[in-house]
Amino acid sequence: MTQLREKLQDLAALPEDRPMGMPGAFYTSQEQFEHEANTVLRNGWHCLGRLDELAEPGDFFTVQLLNEPLLVVRGDDDKVRVLANVCRHRGMPLAEGKGNQKRFICTYHAWMYGRDGALLRAPRMENAGFDPKSCRLPEHNVQVWNGFIYVNLSPDAAPFSYPDLEQMLAPYETDKFRVVHSAEEEWQTNWKCLVENFMEGYHLSVVHPQTLHGYTPSGLARKLVSGDGYTSYAANYPENIESRGDGAPGLSDAEKQRSSLFSIFPTQVVSQAASLLVSLSIFPINANLIRVKWTMSVYGDDLSDDTIQQRVKLWEEVNREDREKLEKMQVTLRSAHALEGPLAADDYEGTIRDFQTWLAKQDAAFSTAQYA
Ligand code: FES
Ligand SMILES: [Fe+2]
Repeated sequence: MTQLREKLQDLAALPEDRPMGMPGAFYTSQEQFEHEANTVLRNGWHCLGRLDELAEPGDFFTVQLLNEPLLVVRGDDDKVRVLANVCRHRGMPLAEGKGNQKRFICTYHAWMYGRDGALLRAPRMENAGFDPKSCRLPEHNVQVWNGFIYVNLSPDAAPFSYPDLEQMLAPYETDKFRVVHSAEEEWQTNWKCLVENFMEGYHLSVVHPQTLHGYTPSGLARKLVSGDGYTSYAANYPENIESRGDGAPGLSDAEKQRSSLFSIFPTQVVSQAASLLVSLSIFPINANLIRVKWTMSVYGDDLSDDTIQQRVKLWEEVNREDREKLEKMQVTLRSAHALEGPLAADDYEGTIRDFQTWLAKQDAAFSTAQYA
C-alpha cells in the first residue's frame, strides 16, 4: 500500500501535459480502501440527499456512511440534524428506512428519544449512575449547501466553501430545485471509479450512444472551474438541439445549452441542467462495492409529470449503462496488467486529474499529521 501511496504522489506530480491514471490496485486493494476510509473518507464532506426530502419536522431518513449508521431528521426547531442511529443503552439501531416520527423508540428496551436526539424516557431504569441528560444521541457536523445536506464524521471538520463553483451554479438557482425522485442501489465497483466515470465526458458517446450522445456528445465536452475539493465540466448540447426547459430566469443561452457536471469530493457527483438536477451520493462499502443514492430534482413547474417520468427512465438507463461498464472493469482492474495509463486532454479527462491531485494532497496531509 505504501507503494500505491507513493505512486499517487508521483503521478500527481507529472507535468500537466502528460497526465496518467492510477493502476488497478488503487481501485481494488482492500488495504488501500481501509486507509482511505480512515483518512480522506472519514474526514470528507459527504452529500446525504436534498434538504426538501425532509420537508416537515419529524421527517427522517437513515443511511450508512462507512461504519456509521446515521439518522437524518428535521427537528421541531426546523433544523436538520445528523444523529448517530445507535441507541445509547446497548447499541440497537433506532430507526430504519424513512418516514416521519414524533419520537424514536428503541425496539429493544423502549428507550425513547426526541427529534433532536435527547433521551426522553427510559422505562424501569434504576441505576444510581444513570443520567438521562448524558444519553443524548451524538450529533455529527452538518452543512447545507445549494439545497444539499452534507455530513462530516470528523468532529473537527471545517465547513467548506467553493466560491468559483458557487458563482458558476448561482444562475441555475440550484437551491430552489425540488426533489421528484430518489432511489438506492448497490454497484460492484470502487467509489473512485464512479466519481471518475461520472466526471469525464470522454465516454459519453461510446457508452451512451442512444441515451446521451444526441444531447451531450463527447466531442463537445469542455472543462469548467475546479479547485481544492471540487471539479466540473460542461457537457454541451449541439446547436440544433432545443434546450430542455427554461430553468431560472437569469440563465444565459450558453448555460441553457449544456449540462454542468460537478463533483464535491470525495463522494458526490451532480449533473445540473436548466430544469433538471441529478445528484449521486456514493457510500463506499468496501474496495469493490458501493451503495449509490441518487435524486432527481426539477426547477419550478418547468417539466410536466410525463416528462419527469421520461427523465427518470432515461437516467435509470444511463446509470445502468455506466454500471455495466464499471462492474466489468472492477474485475479486470485486479489484473497484474492493469497498469497506469495515459489520460485524455483536459476537456475530456482533466476532471480525473483534478480528483487525483486532490487525493494526493489529502493523502500527503494525513501522512504528516494524524495518520503517520
Ligand atoms: S438497546 Fe435501545 S433500549 Fe436497550
Ligand atoms: Fe456515463
